Amino acid sequence: MGAMPRLKVLFVASECMPLVKTGGLGDVAGTLPGELVRRGHDVRVVIPRYRMVKDYPALVHSAPMAVPTGLDESWAAVWEAKLAQDVPVYLIEHDVLYDRDGIYGDAHGDFGDNARRFAFLSRAGLALRRYLSFEPDVIHLHDWQAALVPSLARAAGESIPTVLTIHNLGYQGRFGADQLAAIGLGSEHLNDLGLEHQGDINLLKSGLTCATCLSTVSPTYAEEIQTAEGGAGLDGVLRARTADLFGILNGIDEQTWAPSTDPLLPARFDKDHLEGKAVCKQALQRELGLEVRPDVPLVGLVSRFVEQKGIDVFVDALEQLLHLDLQFAVLGSGQGWAERLFSKLSETHDSFRARLGFDERLAHLIEAGADLFAMPSRYEPCGLNQMYSQRYGTLPVVRAVGGLRDTVQHDRTGFVFTALTGEALAAAVAYAADTYRLAPAHFRQMQRSAMGKRMGWDQVAVQYEALYRLAIARQAGRH
Ligand code: ADP
Ligand code: GLC
Repeated sequence: MGAMPRLKVLFVASECMPLVKTGGLGDVAGTLPGELVRRGHDVRVVIPRYRMVKDYPALVHSAPMAVPTGLDESWAAVWEAKLAQDVPVYLIEHDVLYDRDGIYGDAHGDFGDNARRFAFLSRAGLALRRYLSFEPDVIHLHDWQAALVPSLARAAGESIPTVLTIHNLGYQGRFGADQLAAIGLGSEHLNDLGLEHQGDINLLKSGLTCATCLSTVSPTYAEEIQTAEGGAGLDGVLRARTADLFGILNGIDEQTWAPSTDPLLPARFDKDHLEGKAVCKQALQRELGLEVRPDVPLVGLVSRFVEQKGIDVFVDALEQLLHLDLQFAVLGSGQGWAERLFSKLSETHDSFRARLGFDERLAHLIEAGADLFAMPSRYEPCGLNQMYSQRYGTLPVVRAVGGLRDTVQHDRTGFVFTALTGEALAAAVAYAADTYRLAPAHFRQMQRSAMGKRMGWDQVAVQYEALYRLAIARQAGRH
């Protein structure tokens, strides 16, 4: 039997590690391509050339690329950089759209021209095929920022197999109908491309309507988004496509997130040698100005401070938890009220420290130095931090929702609670802290199970490969 023919795949995404990331999407778009390349496929990635990626080593192609914008044409420079496994990333340079501080917005909120900015990304992704003479077998789109690719292809009468992955249904790329001109589509397309949504335009909805196959990042989330409660207004659209919708659990980059080799840590450790973890805990306590004590359970949290992450639930739980002998190490940014409250608690409580901002090194140190890791998410498509923390022997305390439910086993690799309330989280953290203090052998056994779990991308890549082949077959059938 001969080997399966290799696939040519183009990823279109708004983030990609190590160039740019605001959340897990960047991790996934930066790692999955390399894994597919290892399996023999030809995978390339396209992202915008934001101001903050300009110092990443890249070479510019000599000819500019023409990108149709609907009415006329625009020109973009194409830069090429490399990811691990030599995966090419094409950086679309259009300074009017991308050369500014911020990726999706700044201190004043989302940029007002995001519809145009990301419609342009989708258009550039399609234009690249001809520019590079690279005809992908399938185009893999990520979230609303790339969701217009299948719609534009359909509007142009092209039949291209596409897979659209939903990393977060909470962000849909919804704009006033006046933005239709900005994305370069005429009103005749509002209905046939599924763009119209309650009088607005909705780029994700259009993608969910037009893509050949759909996926999301955990099996449980795939179920949840088809219900009125979890569907964020699009459950009907998703139910209509249930036969084409798959839940594929994310993997993690086991090279970057490896306690035995992590260069961002002051000491290293593995599941049979935890001495280094104690050194990390000490370093974390010292760095944040917490009392240096090995015996006190230290709870970490690294998150965007937004409703999705249950940051309000965490705050409610603190009311009870701050009375217990625990420590807290918090890193993140987001809603102003939460930032202010965490800063204040850092001043008034010796056992609580928050750092505001995005800090890759401190994120690693918290994963390594904490004993417990809190994730009280309202919803969670997959979640990566609970997997990172398991890898680092930092037992996650998670709500039984989405990917958290699929990746944490209660009392075996972490602690799971159900109700979306401060009391439920506080009770779960208190139980976990008791386990740490009163049942150290069991806690140690749990750490060993969590650290020994395989969470890499190799098995995941096989599933995407199957999905790509399915999309190719279904698109051929549709045509
Ligand atoms: P989401 O993508 O919804 O934010 P995930 O758990 O999938 O949630 O991924 C979050 C990723 O972003 C993780 O890699 C996490 O470590 C990282 N991260 C989030 N906030 C920060 C921060 N303030 N500093 C450094 N890394 C962060
Ligand atoms: C999104 C989700 C998160 C998921 C990540 C990567 O940002 O909020 O749960 O892990 O995408 O797929």
